[in-house]
Amino acid sequence: MIALISETRHALPLQLNLLHQTITKFTRKSRQFLLPAARLFLLPIACSLLPKNPYFAFPKISLMSSSIFTDVDQYIHELFIPEDEALNKTMNSISETGIPSISVSYTQGKMLFLLAKMSKPKRILEIGTLAGFSTIWLARALPSDGVLVTLELEQQHADIALKNIENAGLSDKVQILVGPAGESLDQMIKGKTEPFDFIFIDADKPPYAEYFKQSLKLSKPGTVIVADNVVREGRILDKATTDEDAAGIARFNKLISETPEVDASILQTVGEKMHDGIAIAIVK
Ligand SMILES: C[S@@+](CC[C@H](N)C(=O)[O-])C[C@H]1O[C@@H](n2cnc3c(N)ncnc32)[C@H](O)[C@@H]1O
Repeated sequence: MIALISETRHALPLQLNLLHQTITKFTRKSRQFLLPAARLFLLPIACSLLPKNPYFAFPKISLMSSSIFTDVDQYIHELFIPEDEALNKTMNSISETGIPSISVSYTQGKMLFLLAKMSKPKRILEIGTLAGFSTIWLARALPSDGVLVTLELEQQHADIALKNIENAGLSDKVQILVGPAGESLDQMIKGKTEPFDFIFIDADKPPYAEYFKQSLKLSKPGTVIVADNVVREGRILDKATTDEDAAGIARFNKLISETPEVDASILQTVGEKMHDGIAIAIVK
């Protein structure tokens, strides 16, 4: 009896050991089989859930978040834009008053100034004033008898811009029209306003195509039309987008590409303002 008990005692761990080994073998085998099988089924499901272009879903982790672009932007800023009290005050007025921080950057402003200067303008039209940052850059491209008309919807933005433009010593050249840009443009067209030499479109994005059509009516051969934010981190490629801004810009880009009265293209930009672009058109 004692011997039997002791045998059972020995046998039990042995059986358990055998059971353990069998289970381990089965698990290993099943893992070998199950994992690839699971992958085979799960991968297409996971893929179907992913967006077609990850840039649309994860723009912030796209290549453009790399600091190389902002570092180079800073490098260009330091090389080409000396300290400027009027521009700094204008930029500060945006953060101090809490209005949206959506002006062009310093380096983009300098580029706008150069583009405007190349067209030797007497008359500039700007659609979208905000605090007057781009307005100041553009007005500086005018000769002493030049005129800049800028259109702004918000009275608060216009008031802030007015102070900044005054501080920059440009009040005699700049006129701000407050109200919906579409209406101000129509009034100018009806009033047979003298055509502009340079037009900068930078207001609400959905009606960009309409602003362009109206701008054409306020142009003459040689007028340069520049529009900001026409790439939107590539969202203009997404034909199924529900983003009204991207859809509006895509309509605008198509329109300028098909308008026989202008030669046009788009320049992609990177830097402080992420991945975007400006459209440049010249009236034939
Ligand atoms: C991107 S900000 C302009 C930035 C400015 N150009 C700069 O770079 O300093 C756009 C401005 O357009 C104005 N805006 C929006 N919708 C408008 C509309 N329908 N008519 C006129 N202005 C409008 C906004 O209030 C805002 O001040």
